[in-house]
Amino acid sequence: MRNRLLLFLLLALAISAQTPPSVKGGMVVSQERLASEAGAQVLREGGSAVDAAVATAFALAVVHPAAGNLGGGGFLLSRPVDGPPSFVDFREAAPGAAGPRMWLKAGVYDEARHHRSLASVGVPGTVAGLHEAWRREGRLPWARLLHPAIRLAREGFLLSENQAASLAEQLPEFRKHGPTLAQFSRDGLPLRTGDRLVQRDLARTLVRISKDWRDFYRGRTARLILRDTRENAGLIRAADLAAYRPVLREVLRGRYRGLEVLAAPPPSSGGQVLIEALNILEGYDLRAAGAGSPAAVHLASEALRRAFADRARFLGDPAFNLDMPLDRLLSKAYAGELRGTIEPDRASVSAPDRFTWPRDRPDTTHLSVIDRRGSAVSLTYTLEDSYGLKRIVPGAGFLLNNELGDFNGGPGLTDATGLIGTPPNLAGPGKRPLSSMCPLILVKDGAVLLVSGSPGGRSIPSTVLETVLNVVDFGMDARAAVDTPRFHHQWLPDRIQVEAGLAEATRAALKAMGHDLSVVKKQGCAQVILVRDGQAEGAADSRRWADSGLAAE
Ligand code: DON
Repeated sequence: MRNRLLLFLLLALAISAQTPPSVKGGMVVSQERLASEAGAQVLREGGSAVDAAVATAFALAVVHPAAGNLGGGGFLLSRPVDGPPSFVDFREAAPGAAGPRMWLKAGVYDEARHHRSLASVGVPGTVAGLHEAWRREGRLPWARLLHPAIRLAREGFLLSENQAASLAEQLPEFRKHGPTLAQFSRDGLPLRTGDRLVQRDLARTLVRISKDWRDFYRGRTARLILRDTRENAGLIRAADLAAYRPVLREVLRGRYRGLEVLAAPPPSSGGQVLIEALNILEGYDLRAAGAGSPAAVHLASEALRRAFADRARFLGDPAFNLDMPLDRLLSKAYAGELRGTIEPDRASVSAPDRFTWPRDRPDTTHLSVIDRRGSAVSLTYTLEDSYGLKRIVPGAGFLLNNELGDFNGGPGLTDATGLIGTPPNLAGPGKRPLSSMCPLILVKDGAVLLVSGSPGGRSIPSTVLETVLNVVDFGMDARAAVDTPRFHHQWLPDRIQVEAGLAEATRAALKAMGHDLSVVKKQGCAQVILVRDGQAEGAADSRRWADSGLAAE
């Protein structure tokens, strides 16, 4: 009898070791409640975490047009409970006509062409990427996942204060392009809080995609894109659209204090910066220093400074940069060497010999999903600027990106005004511009602990890093991990950007160490899920958007 009991106990133990602990209730956190609701409903119907992410992303393209998109691109990191983690790269690709000197006019850098012309539009990856993720890990029918987006576009939705203010702010820009003005205003006048925004062309495009996603690349939607780009000196041609493929990439992996870090590989620099910085920070007792303390901010800034310097030097599209030394950059030994160059109470100096940075632009958006079995998805996607090129494809109802602005301006162009001209990230046919987006999943003892990500251009890896430190080193809950004042260092310019909420005493101490500080009101907009004791707790960032974008299953 005793033997049997022992056998039973051993068996139960073996089974529980194989079955990762599940989560009490699934959850979607995004920047918009209506979009998160669309994803949560998919979970209720038995959809996978990827299903929920896809439905949320399509809904965001309707209710959060500043960054949610069909005409942009991004990255989807998935960690199913019953399979290996995967990473779908659906970053935009440069068209065949692109080249390293494409933003020079008579040899002179043309900023407007780089960031605000149809030449800055990359071949959109979102539709193909979401479809690829669904094909691999979806459970519900593809068309079902587009239903909420179609309904929201066709029947409209009532604009929140945030949405109305965001559209009103952009109205002068929208006036430059008739179809955008028509879709996002009432006969040229601003839409107001409580007004219903109906987007009929967008609804029709979504219906076509729901029937066959290839419509975007080869069908009527493709023809609408091509007509607009051809008539307006854009570079995208039919062959570029037809050739677009999302790329399934190896997840970038690291370890931090015994936890497994799953992050974004190139063409994003998000994972490299994050893991390199975490490796450096692992050698310090941050917990003892305390969250927001001068020591913690100093050490994290110094770690980021070094990781960003490597980013500038080495990172770009892996298909065009075969010699990126990622193994070395992400090794613990290299982190140790870098740690040796950090003084505990003195700011280093960023060698101002090669690079500085262009300004950051909004907008991008992140969503995090977990289902009740514990499968998680972390997805960040973007149009680059807020509302991308601000140009709706006539008849198609969606905005084009201006993502090629993420390429360097031209060969040898590096100068003190903020241009960069290093080779790894120069434009080229079919090449994907270097990104900073940083979808993250942190795993503890085989189960998801944290899902995180944020918009914010180059400040993205810093924001995500701080959500990790807040949870792992400082023991915060999800809400505090998101709300705690942020900071950012990106090597050059050589200063720490701090949020206004960072304590005055900390700022003074950092200055005394020799750091230059710049103060911003807000940094990023993180969407976080933390699993504690088998319970998922989510926190939607209220920095950019006051509404809570959290929806539970
Ligand atoms: O891929 C990138 O890193 C940029 N295009 C993201 C832009 C961005 O996050 C702006 N949002 N605030």
